[in-house]
Amino acid sequence: MSEQEMMRVSLLLSCLLASTCLFTSSSAQSAGFVSLDCGGTEPFTDELGLNWTPDDHHLFGATANISSLNETKTQYTTLRHFPADSRKYCYTLNVTSRNRYLVRATFLYGNFDSNNVYPKFDISLGATHWTTIVISEAATVETAELVFLASSPSVSVCLSNATTGQPFISTLELRQLNGSMYLTEFEDKFHLSVSARINFGAETEDPVRYPDDPYDRIWESDLLKKANYLVDVAAGTMRVSTTSPIDNGAVMDKPPQKVMQTAVVGTNGSLTYRMNLEGFPGNGRAFTYFAEIEDLAEDESRKFRLILPDHPEYSKSIVDVKENTQRAYKVYEPGYVNITLPYVLNFRFAKTADSSRGPILNAMEISKYLEKSGGSVDASVMADLASLYSSTVWGQEGGDPCLPSPWSWVTCSSDPQPRVVAVKLSDMNLTGDIPSELTQLTGLVELLLDGNSLTGSIPDFSRCLNLKIIHLENNRLTGKIPSSLAKLPNLTELYLQNNLLTGKIPSSLTKNVISNFTGNFNLKESGDKGRKLGVIIGASVGAIVLLIVTIISLMCMCKLKEDNKMRKTSAELTTRPHVQRASSTLSEAHGDAAHCFTLYEIEEATNKFEKRIGSGGFGIVYYGLTKEGKEIAVKVLGNNSYQGKREFANEVTLLSRIHHRNLVQFLGYCQEEGRNMLVYEFMHNGTLKEHLYGVVPRDRRISWIKRLEIAEDAARGIEYLHTGCVPAIIHRDLKTSNILLDKHMRAKVSDFGLSKLAVDGTSHVSSIVRGTVGYLDPEYYISQQLTEKSDVYSFGVILLELISGQEAISNENFGANCRNIVQWAKMHIDNGDIRGIIDPALAEDDYSLQSMWKIAEKALLCVKPHGNMRPSMSEVQKDIQDAIRMEKEALVGRGGMSDEFSRSSAHSSSFNMGMRDNYVTIDESVLTPTAR
Ligand SMILES: *[C@@H]1O[C@H](CO)[C@@H](O)[C@H](O)[C@H]1NC(C)=O
Ligand SMILES: *[C@@H]1O[C@H](CO)[C@@H](O)[C@H](O)[C@H]1NC(C)=O
Ligand SMILES: *[C@@H]1O[C@H](CO)[C@@H](O)[C@H](O)[C@H]1NC(C)=O
Ligand SMILES: *[C@@H]1O[C@H](CO)[C@@H](O)[C@H](O)[C@H]1NC(C)=O
Ligand SMILES: *[C@@H]1O[C@H](CO)[C@@H](O)[C@H](O)[C@H]1NC(C)=O
Ligand SMILES: *[C@@H]1O[C@H](CO)[C@@H](O)[C@H](O)[C@H]1NC(C)=O
Repeated sequence: MSEQEMMRVSLLLSCLLASTCLFTSSSAQSAGFVSLDCGGTEPFTDELGLNWTPDDHHLFGATANISSLNETKTQYTTLRHFPADSRKYCYTLNVTSRNRYLVRATFLYGNFDSNNVYPKFDISLGATHWTTIVISEAATVETAELVFLASSPSVSVCLSNATTGQPFISTLELRQLNGSMYLTEFEDKFHLSVSARINFGAETEDPVRYPDDPYDRIWESDLLKKANYLVDVAAGTMRVSTTSPIDNGAVMDKPPQKVMQTAVVGTNGSLTYRMNLEGFPGNGRAFTYFAEIEDLAEDESRKFRLILPDHPEYSKSIVDVKENTQRAYKVYEPGYVNITLPYVLNFRFAKTADSSRGPILNAMEISKYLEKSGGSVDASVMADLASLYSSTVWGQEGGDPCLPSPWSWVTCSSDPQPRVVAVKLSDMNLTGDIPSELTQLTGLVELLLDGNSLTGSIPDFSRCLNLKIIHLENNRLTGKIPSSLAKLPNLTELYLQNNLLTGKIPSSLTKNVISNFTGNFNLKESGDKGRKLGVIIGASVGAIVLLIVTIISLMCMCKLKEDNKMRKTSAELTTRPHVQRASSTLSEAHGDAAHCFTLYEIEEATNKFEKRIGSGGFGIVYYGLTKEGKEIAVKVLGNNSYQGKREFANEVTLLSRIHHRNLVQFLGYCQEEGRNMLVYEFMHNGTLKEHLYGVVPRDRRISWIKRLEIAEDAARGIEYLHTGCVPAIIHRDLKTSNILLDKHMRAKVSDFGLSKLAVDGTSHVSSIVRGTVGYLDPEYYISQQLTEKSDVYSFGVILLELISGQEAISNENFGANCRNIVQWAKMHIDNGDIRGIIDPALAEDDYSLQSMWKIAEKALLCVKPHGNMRPSMSEVQKDIQDAIRMEKEALVGRGGMSDEFSRSSAHSSSFNMGMRDNYVTIDESVLTPTAR
C-alpha cells in the first residue's frame, strides 16, 4: 500500500466515523422528536441541532411565506393556513402507547393574509379542546404546550372554530419524555396544559431549551416580561448565578443544570411576583425548584415560606433547602400535585424570623389539569372505516369523527359523548363490499351510499336499530335483500333501485316503508305476486303525493304567516308615535323618517328652554316633558354648524334608523327659525362622568361591579354602531360625558352620528380632526384616517377612568411629567402596580384584583398606538363579561367567608400588592393569622 493509498483509507475511515457520529447524534435527537415546519418545503437542521421536516404531505390548507423582523428562524418564515369554515383540520402524529409526550404548537401570524385581522381559533388534541389561540400581535409567536400520556399509536392535533381570521399554524413539535416524568395520579382523565415554566435569575432573555434540556422543554427567562407578564418584583431582589455543577439528586422532572445555576434571592427578606396563568383559574400541578448556589457560612440559614393571598394554608410549611438537600448545589423540588390557582397569581416567598438569609428561587413550572374528552362513542369503528379509504382525501381528515367538529361526511348527535347518526358517502366512487364497520354504528339513523360502485351483498344492519333512511341505489349490489332490514323498527325509507339484487322482496318491507326496488331485474315481488305489490307501490306513491301536498301546503302556510308577520312589523313601524310620513319631504326618500317636532311643541315641552341639563361640543341640552307625558332631552345645536337644510335632514334620517338598547333613543328633530334641535329620550341618572368624578359625592360613587356593567352596556352600544349598521358608524367622540345612565343605572351611548353630521355639514371644518383631547386616537390625529379602532382607543381611555376614577387629562393628578391617563396607567400597570391606579373611592373588599387586572390589561390593548394592534369592540366586550363573571364569583366567595378568613386574606393580599415598604420587615406576627 502506498502512502497515498494509506492516506485515502484513513480519510475514508474518518469520514465513515464522522458520519456514524453524526448519525447517532441526530438519531438520539430524533428518537421521539418530531419537529414539523408547517408550510415549509425543505428539511433542515436548526442552530440548536433540531431536525425540522416540512409538512408538505399535508392534504389540507394552503401555505404562505411571511417575514417578521423579530423572528427570523427558518421554521417561522412559513406557515400553513386553513379555510375559516366549520370543519376541523388535523395533523396526525405517530406516538408509542403508554409513553408521555410534550406537544407544542406555535403560531406566528405575520399578517400572512395581508388582512391584518388577528386570527382566533381553537386547537384540540384528539377530541379534547386544548385551548383557544388568540393572536394579539402580528410579530409575536404564540405557543401552546401540553403534556399527555399516549393511549393509542397516533395522536391528532386539530385546528377548528375560526372566530376571527383564518386558522393557521407555524410549527408542531412532539417530544417524547422519559420514564415517569410528569406522571400524575390524574393522567387517565387529565392532560397537563403548561402555563408557566420559568428560569429565575436568567442571564439573558433567551429561553433555555434543547440541547441543555434533553426533552426540549422551554424554560422562559424571567427577564422577558412578556412571559406570563411576570412583574411586581420586590425591592432587594438580586440575581445570582454559579458555574459549579448542580447535583440533580433523584429529582424526576429536573430542570436542566443551566436553569438551576441561576436564581433570584430576596435580600430584603422577600421575593414577590405577579404572573398571568393562561388557562387558569383551575386545578393544576405547581412545582418550584431550589438549589443553594450561594456559599453560606456554617451558622447561616435560609428558611422561608410560600405566601399566597387567599390560601393561608400554604404558608404552614417552611422551605429549608439546606436541610432537605444536606448540602449546597443540589436540587430540591417541593410542589403541589393538585393546587387551585387563579388566573392572576400573586405569590411571595418570605423569610422566617429565625432565618439569616432571604428566600431563593431557581425555577418553577405550573401546568393546569385539562380534562380529557371521552371522544365520540364510535371513534374506533370510524377510524377503522376511514382507514379503508386512506387514499382518499375524505378518509384522511383525522382526529375524532365528531369532536370538536365532525368529519365532512359525517353527522353526529349532540350528546357530550356523541354518536355518529349519519354517514353520507353518495357518489364517492366507492368500490368493493359495503364495509362491515357501518353495521357497528349503533346510533346510525341515516346511511347514504348511493351512486357508487359497491358490490357484494347487503350486510346485516340488525344492530343499527335507529336506522330510518337507507340509500343504496345505483350500485352493483348482489344477493338477496336480508330479512334483517325488514326487522328494523324505525325504517321509513329504503332505496335499492338499480342494483343487481336477486330473490324476493320481504313483504314487511313494503308496508310502512317508502321504498324503491326498480331496476333490479332478478328481484321478485313477495308472496302475493304483482297485484299486492302494485297496490303497495300505488299506496306508497299515493302516500308520497299526499306527503308532498302536505309539505307544500305547510310551506304556504308558513309563508303566509311570515308575510303577516312582516306586514305586522311594518304596521308597527308606521304607527310608532314619532314617525310621521307626511311631515316633510324626507319621507319620500326614506321609509321611516325622523319625527319632525314643531318649535311650538318643543317650546311647550321645555317650558321655553327653562331647565338646562347639560352642554357639550354640539350644543346645550334642555329637559322637556311632552304633552303625552314623555320626558325628553332637547339638544339645541350650535348655530353655525349646519349648512344646508337638506343635509341636516338627511343625516337626521340616518340617525332615526339606529335603534339599540344601549344607544340613547333618538326621537326626532326640529328645524325652524335657523335653529337645529335634536330630541332624545331623557336619561335620569345623567352622565357617567358625573358619577366618576363629578358632582356625585365620593361615598356614593358607583361600585366596581356596576362600573363593569356600565362598561359592558356601552361596549354593546358601540359594537352595534361598528357592526350592526351599514355603513358602519364611527362615533368619533366617545367619552364619559357621552355615556348616559338611565333610571336603573344601565348605560347608553349618546351623540353617535353627530360628528359626521357636523363635519360633513360644514365645509370649513371638514378636514379638521374632531374629538376630545385625552380620548383622541393618536393614530387618527396623525393620519386623519378614521377607523372603528379610533373608537376602541377612546373606549380604552374610558376603561382606565372606570378603574381609576381619574379624568382623562389632568394637570395635577398624574405626577410631574404626565398629564395623560394613558401614560400614567401604563406606567403603573407595566410595573405590576395596579393598586397605584385603582380609584381610592372603591373599598378594597369591593373588587377582586383578578377582574381589575383583566380590565386593565384590556384597556392597555385598546390604547395601543396603532389601530391594528387594538382589539375589536366585540373582543373587549367579551373580556368585560369575563371580568363580570369573575367579580360575581368573587362576590359569592366573599359573601361566604368567615370574618376571620376574610380579614386575614385581605391582609395578606394587601401586603402582596403595592405596599413595598412593608417588605423590609417581615416577622412571624404577619404570618400568625395564616398558621391556623
Ligand atoms: C422587535 O424587536 C425590536 C428590537 O429588539 C423591538 O424594539 C420591537 O419592539 C420588537 N417588535 C415586536 C413586535 O416585538
Ligand atoms: C406513522 O405510522 C404509520 C404506520 O406505522 C406509517 O405508515 C407512517 O409512515 C408513519 N408516519 C410517520 C410520519 O412516521
Ligand atoms: C367556538 O369559539 C367560540 C368563541 O371562542 C366559543 O364561544 C364556542 O363555544 C366555540 N365553539 C365550539 C364548537 O367549540
Ligand atoms: C384536585 O383537587 C380537587 C379538590 O381538592 C378535586 O376536585 C379534583 O378532582 C382534583 N384533581 C384534579 C385533576 O383537579
Ligand atoms: C370519481 O371518479 C371520477 C372519474 O375518475 C372523478 O372525476 C371524480 O372526481 C371522482 N369523485 C370523487 C368524489 O372522488
Ligand atoms: C325509533 O324512533 C323513535 C323516535 O324517533 C325513538 O324514540 C326510538 O328510540 C327509536 N327506536 C329504536 C328501537 O331505536
